[in-house]
Amino acid sequence: MTKSLKLDDQKERFIIDNWMHSKELEKDSFDIILGDLVLRLICFNKQEIFLKRIVNFLKPKGFFITRIHFINNFLQKITSKEIINLTLALLDSGKKNKGKYIRNLLFIRLLDKNFSSNQLEMRKQSQIDINDYIKNNPKISLNKKMILKDTSKRFIGEIGFPFLFSQKKEEIEGKIKKFFNIREKLITKDYDDSEYFPIYILTPKL
Ligand SMILES: C[S@@+](CC[C@H](N)C(=O)[O-])C[C@H]1O[C@@H](n2cnc3c(N)ncnc32)[C@H](O)[C@@H]1O
Repeated sequence: MTKSLKLDDQKERFIIDNWMHSKELEKDSFDIILGDLVLRLICFNKQEIFLKRIVNFLKPKGFFITRIHFINNFLQKITSKEIINLTLALLDSGKKNKGKYIRNLLFIRLLDKNFSSNQLEMRKQSQIDINDYIKNNPKISLNKKMILKDTSKRFIGEIGFPFLFSQKKEEIEGKIKKFFNIREKLITKDYDDSEYFPIYILTPKL
């Protein structure tokens, strides 16, 4: 995968479909499948079925290129208050769209911190952590308070977000290695925590 890809847009065909159930996607027909953070949208007990389907869609020398999220163990060793402080401190860095960026980062970090097999429990706990922080820090700026309130709403349905089936690195790689060889792992440097969002370049296990 060191060469850049040459794509022929005349051959492109746009299909909207579900990879889990598709009848249209054909076996052994894809050179490359791209799936950005798709595995964590698949329920734990269906992930291996999903990976097996991807292997089947690929040609034997094909590639599955996918960004994976795995849980940042460090977050489970510190308190939610520390996580919120660390994340809000990034507001003073020079990034564009900081509010949106911080909301996303805080959302992901608190879900990792409160990880549980019960999706509702981990969301409720994350919401409680933010609400406690607001209550115990009445002097925070209005901007920070707004960011925290917006993030809090995202956990419980007010601003919809699908369930996320995040896991530890070893668990994810264990599943992946049943079907694929891991050829490369790439990490971007343009956002915080990107080391927990590596891009895997995978080839089918023959
Ligand atoms: C994190 S999003 C990708 C975001 C994308 N990179 C972007 O910038 O818009 C994950 C994608 O996986 C897709 N996805 C989840 N389950 C899928 C399935 N069973 N079949 C096909 N696509 C699926 C979702 O529709 C979503 O577009």
